[in-house]
Amino acid sequence: MEKIPVFFDCDTGTDDAAAILIAGKMPEIEIVGLGAVAGNVGIEHTYPNTCRVAKLAGIDAPVYKGAEEPMFRPLVKAEYIHANDGLGGKADTISDIPVPEPPKTRAWDAIYNEAVKHNGELVVVAVGPMTDLGIALAKYKELPKLIKKVYIMGGSASFGNITPAAEFNIYVDPEAAKMLFESGIPIYMCGLDVTEKAYLTPEEMDEIGNIGTRATEFIADVCRSSLEFYLTRGYKGKFMHDSCPMLAVVHPEIFSGKMAGIAVETKGKITLGRTVSDYYTDRKFDFENAFVVTDVDREKFVELTLEYLKK
Ligand code: BDR
Ligand code: CA
Repeated sequence: MEKIPVFFDCDTGTDDAAAILIAGKMPEIEIVGLGAVAGNVGIEHTYPNTCRVAKLAGIDAPVYKGAEEPMFRPLVKAEYIHANDGLGGKADTISDIPVPEPPKTRAWDAIYNEAVKHNGELVVVAVGPMTDLGIALAKYKELPKLIKKVYIMGGSASFGNITPAAEFNIYVDPEAAKMLFESGIPIYMCGLDVTEKAYLTPEEMDEIGNIGTRATEFIADVCRSSLEFYLTRGYKGKFMHDSCPMLAVVHPEIFSGKMAGIAVETKGKITLGRTVSDYYTDRKFDFENAFVVTDVDREKFVELTLEYLKK
């Protein structure tokens, strides 16, 4: 079986960490590189976090440093969910795993290099702010023709989280996201509509912890660290946003949605970073630039998560 070459760009991040661990166990894909971008926390954390979690996942691909800040604005972080270290205060439990000197190549150049190497077959999974892709698109005009598809965790067809209007990854770097949505690259968008349905309950986290490997004990601990945030807001568990696009690369059958038009708001005072969508409207845009996912079979999502983590 030919493996799907995947470049994984992330801002690790509690749910990013879970997605990396799953990716490392998916026999159908080959991670050809990872980018660590600033987002949930600064790059001084996302780089070592990504390196260490990738090692825990058994991924040997290089981790490239991505952008230290969004393309045109200061960084907004999400430490209120992921803690100061990005891993729910648990980063020290994997601090014995060595972190290599970062390669000289930066993530945006690595995306281009891999796209050229894989001759139109490269898939990019982006689960942080889209800055690395934005820089790559600005620098390499031919890039859109070289990437097969970009799977993102970002945006929403209906509501926000970091603000009432916007989802975090898009809000942090709306200009980069706009460039991506206007690039012509096929986009598979897992926004909040679906990712807030892809949660893990405390019991399911225990089940992961009980698998009994270092990686699964670690990720169960990391997930539990933000559980209270979700439970006190009336949710049934932690949203595993970033696992969605990663699983969708191989298991689109558990997700549902449709093609729609997405425009990114880069100027609005109240609506900055909103992915304005015609998904639900009568009058449509004159373009359809993304497959917008709005639902998941949660039982299958949990089943697959456990199945991969047990491998
Ligand atoms: C997204 O923002 C980050 O905090 C998560 O890692 C996820 O990628 C959810 O809005
Ligand atoms: Ca993320």
